[in-house]
Amino acid sequence: MARPIIIDTDPSPDDAVAFLMALGSPDELDLLAITTVGGNAPLVLTTKNALKALELVGRPETPVYAGAAGPLCRNLETAEYVHGENGFEGFDLPEPKLKPAAGFAPDAIVDLVMARPERAVTMCCLAPLTNLALALAREPRLAARLERIVLMGGAFSEGGNVSPCAEYNIYVDPEAARRVFACGAPIVMIPLDCTHQALTAKARLARLRAVGKPHMEAFFHLLTANKRFDEAKYGTDGGPLHDPTVVAYLLRPELFGGRDVSVEISCDEMTRGMTIVDWWGVTGRPVNAKVLRAIDAEGYFDIVIERLSRAARG
Ligand code: RIB
Ligand code: CA
Repeated sequence: MARPIIIDTDPSPDDAVAFLMALGSPDELDLLAITTVGGNAPLVLTTKNALKALELVGRPETPVYAGAAGPLCRNLETAEYVHGENGFEGFDLPEPKLKPAAGFAPDAIVDLVMARPERAVTMCCLAPLTNLALALAREPRLAARLERIVLMGGAFSEGGNVSPCAEYNIYVDPEAARRVFACGAPIVMIPLDCTHQALTAKARLARLRAVGKPHMEAFFHLLTANKRFDEAKYGTDGGPLHDPTVVAYLLRPELFGGRDVSVEISCDEMTRGMTIVDWWGVTGRPVNAKVLRAIDAEGYFDIVIERLSRAARG
């Protein structure tokens, strides 16, 4: 029986790889919906990018619900300096014919989860956590209903990527992140400490391109362009492939290692968005997340390439 999941996302290419991998894994995952949020690019563009990616692989059946345009109580800080003006630079995809589904993403999250049995639906979060925080505010029973929340976000020993101490998804809406980490649902957090070990090295992107399908060629160019900023910043061969780790964890949890710890979120100005991970259990604070720190990078790219290649119909 495939696990029902919802993917909340702000598509840049690595977000899109994540949800297309899910579509390429129908025996294990049932993608109920994609929900979009303002993040890497403004909401209208992240929503359009989700529709473009689905059209690229001929999968119009997956509903895309647009959600919050910005954080709960701050102005949105987008990341065009990393992802380009439209959040999807590197390969021109046509304007989508597909339209978003009717309804607001937080409402769709609540309706889809509450319509299914307890602990059935897994929430996969690849973006600022505004939509999930709003869904939790609308339906306090949501946290107890979710199977778990698997989210890409946060950082501890690795340091931040948008500030010295904060990772982008948490930094953009720290109040939403604080609400999510306090909700009581089981959480798996995949921080930069993990994703920075999984780089889109040229040899790996060459393997992806060698699959020879049109959408793999498109993602070769999209990922090549998308990782240029990180390559220049870190001086590495390729950049971290962040968001697909969430789907890879659901498919191959054995590729990852971590521990159950307490995670707190800073909303102070100087340390805004910092995830305070009590890795050594010194605070005595209650455990609220499994934080992953180890990854088998080769095994990760094997499953990414395998399942992304299967995303296209035919
Ligand atoms: O910090 C990494 C996160 O920010 C990922 O979700 C990536 O898509 C970028 O938005
Ligand atoms: Ca993202």
